Amino acid sequence: MKDIIRQLVETTGPSGYENEVRAVVQKMLKGQVDSMKVDALGNLITRKGQKGQDGLTIMLSAHLDEIGIIATHIDERGFVRFTSVGGVHPRNAVGGRVRFLKTGQVGVIGMEPNQSATSVHGLDKMYIDMGASRRADVKVSVGDVAAFDRPFEDLGQRLVSKAMDDRIGVAILVETMKQLKATPHEVVGVFSTQEEVGIRGATTAAYGVDPDLGIALDVTLTGDTPQAATMEVALGNGPAIKVKDSGMISDPRVVAWMEAGAKRARLPYQLEVLSGGTTDARGIQMARAGVPVGCLSIPCRYVHTPSEMVDYGDVQNSVKLLLALLSKPVKLA
Ligand code: CO
Ligand code: ZN
Repeated sequence: MKDIIRQLVETTGPSGYENEVRAVVQKMLKGQVDSMKVDALGNLITRKGQKGQDGLTIMLSAHLDEIGIIATHIDERGFVRFTSVGGVHPRNAVGGRVRFLKTGQVGVIGMEPNQSATSVHGLDKMYIDMGASRRADVKVSVGDVAAFDRPFEDLGQRLVSKAMDDRIGVAILVETMKQLKATPHEVVGVFSTQEEVGIRGATTAAYGVDPDLGIALDVTLTGDTPQAATMEVALGNGPAIKVKDSGMISDPRVVAWMEAGAKRARLPYQLEVLSGGTTDARGIQMARAGVPVGCLSIPCRYVHTPSEMVDYGDVQNSVKLLLALLSKPVKLA
């Protein structure tokens, strides 16, 4: 699976500009699913299987987009001012490199002088240095979007990229749709857009799909690094079954079904309570008259930094757990 992970994380797609990543997924799933279509917000909606007597329409959702930046002003010396697309924390931005989608040009993020060596300014006092001395030499216009630029690293058991959030969820969904064979369900794999700016793609996709059950696939934080906030989730202990985050409470029946499935398949899992952040599951849950939802989270260190780290075993076990869950009728009790 490392090949598809590498390909997905090395393709760029900040929120609203997911077209290249979407094309990669379309290529990966060509001939592997029953149907594929792209909706008005750019969500890629793939389907496999038919809803039998004991079956449900189950929507799985992983977001294509990653955080990025957008140019707001270019000064006479060619320095580009910018703001964030999604949750870019200033302390993770200084010294970073960004690549503009239109031209492929790279710039480095600098910061106005600061008295303190241990604190950073907001993004409004940062700029992108494109290596130019005059505005005329900078091929960036207001509104141009850039993604962070940092190569993928395979550390063996642990994998590092600036876009594990949520390309790792995308990779898991691609692999699950590919490997899915006999299922009593209509499984709808949604590769959603604009999650990082407020769950926008999954919200409209869920309205269109009108599922009986929804599961989001996304990264979550961990409590396993020095002085980390107390949290149960750790890298390598299996995929995390979300109980609650700050935007969504999983349907307890869905949590119980996911836990029972993991036990039956003898797969490791963890339970997750996340105090900040949310996922596509929120958008699905609130669609139409409401949908029972859960979320399968991939433990990830350093979320929203240029070096997001996941455990390869957790990734593989996520695919196995989803296939085990989707292969049998669902009884929510
Ligand atoms: Co995110
Ligand atoms: Zn995410």
